[in-house]
Amino acid sequence: MTADLTLQIEENYSALSRAAARLVIRQLEEKPDSNLVFATGKTPLGMFDELAAAYQQGRISFENASLVELDDYYGIPLEDPRNLFNWLRRDFLDRVEFPLRNTARFLTDTSAPVEECARIEQFIAASGGIDLQVLGLGPNGHLGFNEPGSALDSGTRVVRLAPASLESSQRYWGEQPVPEYGLTLGLGTLAAARKTLLLVSGGAKAGILHKVLSSPLDPCLPATALHTFPDVLVLADREAAGALGD
Ligand code: PGA
Repeated sequence: MTADLTLQIEENYSALSRAAARLVIRQLEEKPDSNLVFATGKTPLGMFDELAAAYQQGRISFENASLVELDDYYGIPLEDPRNLFNWLRRDFLDRVEFPLRNTARFLTDTSAPVEECARIEQFIAASGGIDLQVLGLGPNGHLGFNEPGSALDSGTRVVRLAPASLESSQRYWGEQPVPEYGLTLGLGTLAAARKTLLLVSGGAKAGILHKVLSSPLDPCLPATALHTFPDVLVLADREAAGALGD
């Protein structure tokens, strides 16, 4: 573990979500034009609810903020319900009136994915880099769609989703198949972010969280790249922290 990685354990998922939202609110107070990356998945949903409530109460404004999409499926229409930017809109962006002109989404229907990934990297560079990224932890230790085997210095690119990710993503989409390819910010791209918040909830993540925190850098376990990131807070609830010992 590097000196820059801190672990904070919260009693339960509600407390974790409130703590995460407080950190986002503080970030926006300190830098209203922050450039953000927010994961989709089930874990950040409570944080999105807290942020939407804070917005309703006038405690936060995203007026000057910008946002880059972390990852999305490749080869589906933009309006597909499985499109992850649409998910982010439903659960977060539209609820806080986030200015869409300040967002960069992956064009999931592009026929030129390499150029598309370069465009996203250019957006990040032009907006001064990522200030705060809120990430989730995959069951196989993936970060974004950086699956096992991803180079630690990888850039934004097209990837083939690992079987474990396809299986775990199936719970989002019911009968619809999970697309087999993804577009993702690379581990090298994420490593340049000024601050990282990793949210981990539930007993099903206890084993993988323990592995990530106790393993040295290992491309078979992409989240070990966090050990090289400059400022990381791992926010886990008690169940997720269950294998960490005292
Ligand atoms: P989850 O997904 O938040 O739905 O558990 C995390 C991930 O697979 O990255």
